[in-house]
Amino acid sequence: MDIKPLITADEIDRKLAEIGRQISEDYAGKELLLVAVLRGAFMVMADLARHIDLACEFDFMAVSSYGASTQTSGVVRILKDLDEEIEGRHVLIVEDIIDSGLTLNYLLKSLKVRKPASLEIATLLLKDGIQRVPIDVKYVAFPIGPEFVVGYGLDYAGKYRNLPYVGVMGDES
Ligand code: PRP
Repeated sequence: MDIKPLITADEIDRKLAEIGRQISEDYAGKELLLVAVLRGAFMVMADLARHIDLACEFDFMAVSSYGASTQTSGVVRILKDLDEEIEGRHVLIVEDIIDSGLTLNYLLKSLKVRKPASLEIATLLLKDGIQRVPIDVKYVAFPIGPEFVVGYGLDYAGKYRNLPYVGVMGDES
């Protein structure tokens, strides 16, 4: 397995602590519904939430955008919808990575019509400047380049999600 570390577990932890503090300030006095987009966001959701000092609830959506390849297909399917009603609630979507932005673009549209009090996004990784649609992301832990990354929730063909860091796949992996 040839994976070069790009962002270490320590760097992730420090950055999530910082963002967690910021979220706690920004939503002070409010209740927050954290929505993770499965499957990749499970790890960042769990770690970020531990740094948020607010009354929080949790929900999960599952969508599919990539198929088995490393390229974005642009096709988004909702595999699992929210269990919670979000009308009048402060909703923060938690993502592991924003690439083309097509997944979130679709999700935002389908959640906005349910009239949340607010709807914002927190992502661990944002691939810089390659979004095919403009997306307003409130909290970004790490902007990255176009390289294909795995680990800390992110997979290649279903594997590597359990790595505690984010790494770049080499040619021989
Ligand atoms: C990843 C990621 C986002 C999406 C981002 O999920 O979690 O949901 O791709 O890509 P986009 O900005 O180009 O739309 P993926 O489809 O790989 O599913 P997974 O989280 O189950 O691995």
